[in-house]
Amino acid sequence: MTSKSRTTNWKLFWKLLSTHLTPDLNLGSLLVIQKAELINELSEAAKAAVKNYEMQFIRELANNQEFNAFYKAPTVILVCGDESPWMPADCAAATQNILLAAESIGLAACWIHFGLFVFGNENGSKYKKLLGVQEGYRPLYSVALGYRKGDQPDAAPRKKNVVTYVK
Ligand SMILES: Cc1cc2nc3c(=O)[nH]c(=O)nc-3n(C[C@H](O)[C@H](O)[C@H](O)COP(=O)(O)O)c2cc1C
Repeated sequence: MTSKSRTTNWKLFWKLLSTHLTPDLNLGSLLVIQKAELINELSEAAKAAVKNYEMQFIRELANNQEFNAFYKAPTVILVCGDESPWMPADCAAATQNILLAAESIGLAACWIHFGLFVFGNENGSKYKKLLGVQEGYRPLYSVALGYRKGDQPDAAPRKKNVVTYVK
């Protein structure tokens, strides 16, 4: 992604979001980070957290100096929730809606889990504080938002026969 400045209709983006967020997200919250140093720091902390991760592809990314968990996107949205049992579903729905709202106005958006690895270790509370995450909440999902470099790639092939009709 690139941060190259283009005219983005942010007003429309937030309007789209406010109509599409799940009603229950008023139990959760969105943190919009637009500080490049902070996004970079979060990416580096996430990489450090999984340098010895059990999955090889994660380890390889973590040890790749070129890799940035948020692809150097100028905006990162953290979707934060409390410990309510329905919070993961609510926040996941909100995250998907953020992706759709962004793509609908020509932004590039990617759901990012990698950048949140830091919240699973002892540095998690340091970053929660630094970012201003509310007490009792934690970042559950995140989205990198920016401008697409190059053309939109084709969608990956989908599994067939995933729908079963019971009549
Ligand atoms: C829960 C979840 C976590 C993801 N985390 C990442 C991530 O950390 N980094 C990344 O590049 N893409 C991440 N993605 C995006 C996927 O890599 C993929 O681009 C997206 O699901 C679209 O799927 P498709 O390639 O099959 O169209 C994540 C997607 C989901 C649903």
